[in-house]
Amino acid sequence: MTAFSPPPFCHLSRVTIVGAGNVGSSLAQRILERNVADVVLIDIVEGRPQGVALDLMESRGSEGHNRQIVGTNSYQDTAHSDVVVITAGLPRKPGMSRDDLLQVNGKIVIETIQQALQYSPHACYIVVTNPLDVMTYLAWKVSGLPAERVMGMAGVLDSARFQTFIAMELGVPPGDVSALVLGGHGDLMVPLPQYSTVSGIPVTELVDAATLERLIERTRNGGAEIVQLLKQGGAYYAPASAICVMVEAILYNQSRILPVAAYLEGQYGLEDLYLGVPCRIGQKGVETVLELSLTEAQHQALATSADSVKQNIDQALDQLLEFKIQR
Ligand code: LAC
Repeated sequence: MTAFSPPPFCHLSRVTIVGAGNVGSSLAQRILERNVADVVLIDIVEGRPQGVALDLMESRGSEGHNRQIVGTNSYQDTAHSDVVVITAGLPRKPGMSRDDLLQVNGKIVIETIQQALQYSPHACYIVVTNPLDVMTYLAWKVSGLPAERVMGMAGVLDSARFQTFIAMELGVPPGDVSALVLGGHGDLMVPLPQYSTVSGIPVTELVDAATLERLIERTRNGGAEIVQLLKQGGAYYAPASAICVMVEAILYNQSRILPVAAYLEGQYGLEDLYLGVPCRIGQKGVETVLELSLTEAQHQALATSADSVKQNIDQALDQLLEFKIQR
């Protein structure tokens, strides 16, 4: 009898999630229950990741999957991950902007990527911590990784919110709506109605200008609206879904076109920053940045959003001198 050898494409993927808060825990659940990968959930709080992991292990029989999750406080357990998702950091309080978290979360993100990188040097890194575009830039800068392997999650979430509000307004299923939002993950994000469609019909054909403006405004405030309602912490179900979409695109090498925070080197006339733009996402990470034609006003809005991200990058670098990050 010949020895058993596994089929050539059989390998188990492993995703590390840093931060066992609401976003990290919900993401772990999505990844396991969609049977995407095994998960290592790590947090500095003792007991929290272990507790969430055990709780999720105990739901496997009812959910009908056989995925593993380990909760830990040690980076050694994260070794050989294919994707590392960084959710660690403080969330906003009502009335705070994402930018108010610059220094405290900057330190957390830098220390996190330095540690994770030692054990998973070949992984793709997805940053979720706010202020998103700045945190992704810092993570890339201190990692020394090729920019294609570090990206930020926001465009998929912001586009999902625009999709939701269009679907709610028209009373159609969200699956029929395809929406696109570019720019920084903040009040200056740039929803693009001409690239947002319902069953192929541009949304501009289906709602009047005032309605469209209301939907765009609600999208821009989508995160803050939930912070106001919850009063403690921010959104987590839709963020977790959006991250899971990106993780799947990477692990299954889907080559999907998704809006993510990517490093720009001249595209859209912008350079040396991370900003939300449509990208082709596959096993290598960000395979290409797509340049869309925009209206003059949208170009201007993207430049304004980029200016604000750049200013915050400079401010973060000033505030985090102890890490000696090269400018
Ligand atoms: C939000 C957080 C994830 O937009 O920034 O809900």
